[in-house]
Amino acid sequence: MKARKVLAPFALPFVFAWAPKQAPAAFWQPPSDSVDYINPLIGNGGDTPNGSGGMIPSTAPPFAMTRWVAQTRQNYVSVTPYNHTDTTIHGFQGTHQPAIWMGESGQVVVVPGSGRVQSQFHDRGMVFDKATEVITASYYSANLQTNDGGNIHAEQSATSRVGYLRFSFKSTQAPYVLLEASRASVMGSADPNNVTYPLGSIYIDPEAKEITGTNAERQDFIIDPVSTPARGFKGYFCARFDRPFLSWGVIQNGTASEDSSAAGPLVSGFATFDPNDTTINVRVGVSFISIDQARRNLDNEIPDGTTLEDTAMTTRAAWAEKMDRVQLEGATEDEKVIFYTGFYHTLQYPYETSEDGKYYSGYDDSVHEGVSYSGYSIWDTFRAESAWLILFAPERVPGMITSMLQDYKEGGWLPMWKNIIGSPSFVGTHADSLIAEAVVKGITGFELDLAWEAVLKDATIPPVNDSTTSYFDREENVNYEVRAGLSSVYDTNGWVASDIHSEAASRTLDYAYDDYAVYVLAKALNKTSEAAFFLNRSLEAPFSIFNDATGFMEARNADGSWAGEDAGWTEGDKWAYSFDVVHDIPGLIAKRGGNVSFVRSLEEHFNGGHNDHTNEPSHHIPYLYALAGAASKTQERVRSIAKSDYGTSPTGLAGNEDCGQMGAWWLFSALGFYPVNPVSGEYIVGSPFFEKVSIDLPGVDRPLVITAHGAPSDIYVKSLSINGAPLDEPVVFHDEIARGGDIVFEMSANPEPWAYNTVVSLPFYPTSSTFDDVD
Ligand SMILES: *[C@@H]1O[C@H](CO)[C@@H](O)[C@H](O)[C@H]1NC(C)=O
Ligand SMILES: *[C@@H]1O[C@H](CO)[C@@H](O)[C@H](O)[C@H]1NC(C)=O
Ligand SMILES: *[C@@H]1O[C@H](CO)[C@@H](O)[C@H](O)[C@H]1NC(C)=O
Ligand SMILES: *[C@@H]1O[C@H](CO)[C@@H](O)[C@H](O)[C@H]1NC(C)=O
Ligand SMILES: *[C@@H]1O[C@H](CO)[C@@H](O)[C@H](O)[C@H]1NC(C)=O
Ligand SMILES: *[C@@H]1O[C@H](CO)[C@@H](O)[C@H](O)[C@H]1NC(C)=O
Ligand SMILES: *[C@@H]1O[C@H](CO)[C@@H](O)[C@H](O)[C@H]1NC(C)=O
Ligand SMILES: *[C@@H]1O[C@H](CO)[C@@H](O)[C@H](O)[C@H]1NC(C)=O
Ligand SMILES: *[C@@H]1O[C@H](CO)[C@@H](O)[C@H](O)[C@H]1NC(C)=O
Repeated sequence: MKARKVLAPFALPFVFAWAPKQAPAAFWQPPSDSVDYINPLIGNGGDTPNGSGGMIPSTAPPFAMTRWVAQTRQNYVSVTPYNHTDTTIHGFQGTHQPAIWMGESGQVVVVPGSGRVQSQFHDRGMVFDKATEVITASYYSANLQTNDGGNIHAEQSATSRVGYLRFSFKSTQAPYVLLEASRASVMGSADPNNVTYPLGSIYIDPEAKEITGTNAERQDFIIDPVSTPARGFKGYFCARFDRPFLSWGVIQNGTASEDSSAAGPLVSGFATFDPNDTTINVRVGVSFISIDQARRNLDNEIPDGTTLEDTAMTTRAAWAEKMDRVQLEGATEDEKVIFYTGFYHTLQYPYETSEDGKYYSGYDDSVHEGVSYSGYSIWDTFRAESAWLILFAPERVPGMITSMLQDYKEGGWLPMWKNIIGSPSFVGTHADSLIAEAVVKGITGFELDLAWEAVLKDATIPPVNDSTTSYFDREENVNYEVRAGLSSVYDTNGWVASDIHSEAASRTLDYAYDDYAVYVLAKALNKTSEAAFFLNRSLEAPFSIFNDATGFMEARNADGSWAGEDAGWTEGDKWAYSFDVVHDIPGLIAKRGGNVSFVRSLEEHFNGGHNDHTNEPSHHIPYLYALAGAASKTQERVRSIAKSDYGTSPTGLAGNEDCGQMGAWWLFSALGFYPVNPVSGEYIVGSPFFEKVSIDLPGVDRPLVITAHGAPSDIYVKSLSINGAPLDEPVVFHDEIARGGDIVFEMSANPEPWAYNTVVSLPFYPTSSTFDDVD
């Protein structure tokens, strides 16, 4: 599909007689070229959940608590609420589903309709016109056909905690708007017939023109640690209309009544309106604290008298404030779409969950003072997304870390995959990395002593029942997973025993990296002996599972025997994970026989089709050539992946976006460097994509200007200088970019000897075939 350069309503033909009377141009100020390149449909497609970015064309500002999206199907773990292949819209959903593999929680759905009020999902769907659907980051609209032969022009914008919907009814007999509080909740794609009935409630106040309610749905509760059930969790909402109700009622399990309240499963409430052509504005405040708080959120963020245009403009300005910080020269239109859409994806998660300086904590089921976030996919985001946030949203990072420390105080551990509360998904306690990286990069504003305490606990205390629980991915009815198998690390010489624990080989490697993060933090805090201990463990552990006989990493059992090359991997295999020692690449190179042999193993990995960029364990691998003296191969591989795995269509992401990590890979790669070892404060140089990128980093006086003349066609780096000083090594330090400055690449059409000191003795510079020939 052709890039969908986002269209302003005024650029659309005014074919709808009921087009809004307000000057539509008002939506689109301030002018911002960059925001208009965002295509929220990218990443919505894919044949399988794995092959989809899992992104939805949602409307919300950066890091919004609630994202609003046209609902085309029921969402659950592995299914998003909008699928671009669908032809009907069943409402407008305020969703908290942060990624395709996570479930929904506390959502509310606003459903317009005409005629007999329909609450059931299938009955309330309306065919919509794809040709006139408008999808932007700050405004969405679609034209729906009602069952009684009329039309509804539905428009949507949102602030962080309030959705704004406007329904313009045309030729409809009996317009209504329904609020769905509770639905039948599918427990997962494995068994779509396995449903639960979460409880909801509805209250209708015609005087105030409000429909309020609650929804206790939380699809991920089954993987909550047993010690913290978040029993009291609810989404609360307060929907306020601008038109008087003609009549109203509630519907429970398909049966309507004229009551003003209802509670239980399958509950909705509705109001009907003047049958004449009419426009209904409804603002929906959302809260995790209470209905009163939802109402306060509404009054704070979109007070009475605010137009949908005002809200759309405010939200557009919030995106522009970030997007306009980066100007690209020499990028194609498609590349701009990929860049700014990736940028937009990186600034959605984690999402803020505090309201008026208070937040609901699922860990202790109560409300606290403070700033809070949820939606942390840390196994993914510690790689590059967190580095991107430190550069482009540094104002958020102290709050994001403080929020993790609150999780520690309230639940006993730092989060792993936090979706309301932490769940046992993936392996490693990479919150350690997020904290160490922030400290190394000079972020302040969170409690360092508490951070150390929490990180030290991760690194030293095994989870409950460690020796008898496998802690497989998303295992139900267990406690916090954290470093499952850590007890066997103490018993062996550093590895997680594969006969006791799932994913033992990946755990061994990931815990080693996390130990390195602990070392980095200890060093920053002058904790010398702890620093030495964790550095030693982080350097020893990875090679305790390196099988010299095969040349690959391999899981081991408690008694030291090898567990087999296919055992013990987390979403990957021996190929990817044998490169997973990002904190000690020189050690890894030595183990794999030195630079030439290491480069050959990388060639085998890529040429053999083993690199799987659709999943995170492969993300850093193309950058490793550069650390073995074959920078030109990194340049080729990075450019090739950027083309093959990213595009402008709904299927434009080859794998799940994973809360911004897929996007962050492309963004850093486009700039010309990537954080292979995030806590080192170093970036490894690749191949910049564009002629020139000018970046106005938040809080930095001097622009960061990356110049690379010829880069669009010449992918090889001939030389590199930073602020005039030439650089011989393919390593850029955080300090060299975070304060602005000039990075100048000289590009070339052919592989160049720059940063290429290993294989210099070879007769010619490396190309794919070179290493196949070398013995
Ligand atoms: C979208 O819908 C199509 C058609 O039902 C389906 O094949 C595809 O898997 C869906 N995509 C996602 C990401 O669920
Ligand atoms: C999709 O991902 C899941 C979870 O990682 C995995 O179990 C499954 O094998 C994958 N399916 C495909 C078709 O890749
Ligand atoms: C439905 O899913 C839940 C959560 O995974 C599980 O406990 C329950 O046994 C399942 N029920 C059926 C009938 O499969
Ligand atoms: C809804 O109603 C149907 C019959 O109309 C009944 O079989 C079903 O159990 C009800 N569901 C709930 C959750 O009450
Ligand atoms: C609809 O409009 C007609 C003509 O203006 C008016 O007579 C009628 O009262 C209106 N209906 C309602 C319910 O307001
Ligand atoms: C730990 O194991 C004991 C004994 O099997 C069991 O009773 C307890 O519930 C387990 N605790 C957790 C948190 O899994
Ligand atoms: C660590 O020691 C150095 C040198 O003595 C000192 O400058 C720094 O402030 C100390 N840092 C902390 C966190 O104590
Ligand atoms: C780790 O400590 C042990 C024991 O002191 C030592 O033998 C080993 O060389 C150390 N390893 C590293 C990588 O420093
Ligand atoms: C391997 O390559 C790296 C990066 O170019 C270089 O620093 C190192 O000295 C090389 N090692 C050897 C043994 O040549």
